[in-house]
Amino acid sequence: MPEESSAEVLAAVAGEVQACTNCDLYKGTQHGVPGEGDAHAAVMFIGEAPGFNEDRQGRPFVGQAGGFLGELLAAAGLRREDVFITNVVKHRPPNNRDPLPEEISACARSLSRQIAAINPRVIVTLGRYSMARFFPGATISRIHGQYKLVDGRVVVAMYHPAAALHQQSLRQTLLDDFAAAIPAALAHATQLAAEGKLGTASPASGKADDAKDDEPPQQLALF
Ligand code: URA
Repeated sequence: MPEESSAEVLAAVAGEVQACTNCDLYKGTQHGVPGEGDAHAAVMFIGEAPGFNEDRQGRPFVGQAGGFLGELLAAAGLRREDVFITNVVKHRPPNNRDPLPEEISACARSLSRQIAAINPRVIVTLGRYSMARFFPGATISRIHGQYKLVDGRVVVAMYHPAAALHQQSLRQTLLDDFAAAIPAALAHATQLAAEGKLGTASPASGKADDAKDDEPPQQLALF
């Protein structure tokens, strides 16, 4: 039997998310929000959980934080349609509360399958819940704007775009981090790929994408 394409795996995961009852979050929601974008994106963004607007539309980052994410993508030289955007939790938590560990666990397999299907060179974590999957025990204020090789991919830790809506000073930090760290991470990934050191999961395999530490965090000497 031919292997499923990346787009087919993503469509299957999206269908499963819409029907998912692995935790109670689906109960108060209108839509699951599996994520969207290029099935072969070089860069994948992983946020926290859908909010009010995302739940209404079934699409990630379409509210205020999404508007700022659009500006951040432009600062990094990226277009929304060329990347893939998703969240660690695929249904909206009530009143936008923080996701619970069991809710993150309930969605972990869907996220792993999305990562394996897309097989991105670079993963950008938005906020601390997404960061914790790849950088366990790290503190966002210490490692934002840095990247590291984790399980064959270059992973960049960023503040959540919504953080800048609450704390104005983080706006410029985020713009600077996106403008500097994402092109640098992509260049690093390209170099590693040329050396045969990038990529462990076979595309569209749907295999678990366990986070492993492979090299020390790369500090960008920028400012
Ligand atoms: N915040 C997130 O983390 N994800 C979204 O999709 C929207 C807001």
